[in-house]
Amino acid sequence: MEKKESGEREILADVKRLERVAYPLLTWYKENGRDLPWRREPNPYKVWISEIMLQQTRIEAVKPYFDRFMKELPDVAALAAVDDDRLMKLWEGLGYYNRARNLKKAADVIVREYGGVMPPQYLELKKLPGIGCYTAGAIASIVFGEAVPAVDGNVLRVLSRILASREDIGKASVKKRAEEMLRRIMPAGEAGAFNQGLMELGETVCVPNGSPKCEECPVKKECLARELGLTGELPVKAPPKKRRIEKRTVCIMEQEDQVALCRREDTGLLASLYELPNVEGHWSLEQLSRVFHFREDQVISAEQLPDAKHVFSHVEWHMIGYRIKVGKGLPKGLIAAKKEELKTIYPLPNAFSRYTKLIK
Ligand code: ADE
Repeated sequence: MEKKESGEREILADVKRLERVAYPLLTWYKENGRDLPWRREPNPYKVWISEIMLQQTRIEAVKPYFDRFMKELPDVAALAAVDDDRLMKLWEGLGYYNRARNLKKAADVIVREYGGVMPPQYLELKKLPGIGCYTAGAIASIVFGEAVPAVDGNVLRVLSRILASREDIGKASVKKRAEEMLRRIMPAGEAGAFNQGLMELGETVCVPNGSPKCEECPVKKECLARELGLTGELPVKAPPKKRRIEKRTVCIMEQEDQVALCRREDTGLLASLYELPNVEGHWSLEQLSRVFHFREDQVISAEQLPDAKHVFSHVEWHMIGYRIKVGKGLPKGLIAAKKEELKTIYPLPNAFSRYTKLIK
């Protein structure tokens, strides 16, 4: 009981501080909020797609993806009906392809169960595939004005500095506490601007890696980290787990205007996407010729290509590569794709971009 009471006292002190932040933050956001494509004539679909894209990529990099996506799939019905490969092609380069698959799954539910209209409530949105607390909070507050928080990494960093908290912002309990505090101070009728103000402050002023632009900060007077000289040390975040290193050998196998591709398995890393033929381990050309069944007398030229590295969240690929030009047909069992179709049809993940760039 005592512990609970002291926890409540602590939360109250933090909530009081955040209450003093709300108004100057809102004023600052209204004057400085960036003009972004999904903020122009916002609707729940636009906000949903942009928020999912923004979970993995910087704003500037998202803009062209967002524009292309909206042109081709302007509403929930179009998303629910899109061909899977086409969806992957539109997502190509953004990574975390399951997020795009979940978009389509959720669109399908919206069409079947909600008559094609996105539900306006936080709790309903959260039931949809791929929509968690953050995304549901962002859509519900930005589009529908519901007084719910939307806590992402930017918001956690801002809060950790304002409150000079040494808690690890990677912990679920820290996020939960942040959501609870924000619920208590959410300014009536301004939830969307308030949430976006916090995100925007984190992205443009209270930036990571010990270099916040405190002079520009609209809430610097309320920032405990600044007062205590702790902005460089906060937030605390436990280092990520070490990634497994996987060696791979990648082949550009070409015959005139065609290049060999494979399709990845339906589950696991980069599921169902296309790839250049590759094997685990660092292999010699001779070993490769046996795996991919091309005869040496069919090889017109073979050269080693530069090494490449690609970092996924849990694994790193350390790649070596070869270009093999063959005279007769490409080996059986591989897809013979027209080179020009790599740009338009086949979704090829960024992991291979060091090599796909070399296909002319
Ligand atoms: N980052 C992610 N979503 C955002 C939003 N809606 N506004 C500002 N920054 C964001």
